[in-house]
Amino acid sequence: MSASHFWLADRRVRGHLFEQADEALLEPLAQCLVGASQPEELGATALKAGRVWRLGDKVIKRYASTRWRDRARASTAVRVARLYRRILPIQSPRPRAVLELPRALGAPNSMLVMDRVEGEVIKFHWSAEPAAQAAFGPFMAELHRRKLFHGDFHMGNLMWDGAGYVLLDIESLRPAWSVLQPQRLYRRQWVRVVSDLGHDAPVEAAYHAWLSATKLAWPAGAWGEIAREGERAGAERRRRHAARTAAILPASEES
Ligand SMILES: Nc1ncnc2c1ncn2[C@@H]1O[C@H](COP(=O)(O)OP(=O)(O)O)[C@@H](O)[C@H]1O
Ligand SMILES: [Mg+2]
Repeated sequence: MSASHFWLADRRVRGHLFEQADEALLEPLAQCLVGASQPEELGATALKAGRVWRLGDKVIKRYASTRWRDRARASTAVRVARLYRRILPIQSPRPRAVLELPRALGAPNSMLVMDRVEGEVIKFHWSAEPAAQAAFGPFMAELHRRKLFHGDFHMGNLMWDGAGYVLLDIESLRPAWSVLQPQRLYRRQWVRVVSDLGHDAPVEAAYHAWLSATKLAWPAGAWGEIAREGERAGAERRRRHAARTAAILPASEES
């Protein structure tokens, strides 16, 4: 974490700078954080409405919290910037700057300026990326070895940059001590992998590579159960998604 900070938006926003951040960007972004403008007005395109934007070679993410217990903690953007270093060599988007509203002014809202990952969310590119398929088991084993538990683990939070995996949403990492039943969590993660990707041969190979690296003594039949459960969960999620989509389409567009 950078030691020095500075003030923006008439001392309403505190900024922390990491190496080579584009300083000209910070005051306009601080104006967005205090609600005086929207990132779209700076030419940013939303990757997720109201929350994540692309701006040139940077991605901006805004974190808002209304929870009281968060008032006692560092802002989410600051925690993510610290976590970035802590989980290396596991890759996540490189932080460039953090902007935060001091807690005294209300909800601990913050904003992270990070490098845009030159790559694809693996969920949508799995079948086109044999190198990513081969690297998945070892990547999962590395997370396991480092006791990194992602509280929002799914294949939409994992990007592939052509050389390795990049983990998104690391604000959802949970401290190892808070995970009471890690084996259940590992199982649930693999169910989620199957529900996102299907249970094709590369997924199964990754599972076995992970299992042998972790030395967990899971029964041989575990994969079959995980695959079935994952397929069921995936079908259910797709069904719910289709129902939601149909519900928001005007009646005239249905038929
Ligand atoms: N650093 C980044 N580089 C490229 N794309 C990103 C980056 N961060 C987020 N994205 C894209 O924006 C989407 C939403 O970002 P994410 O951080 O996962 O937000 P959320 O917490 O809402 O899930 C991701 O699925 C990904 O497509
Ligand atoms: Mg996400």
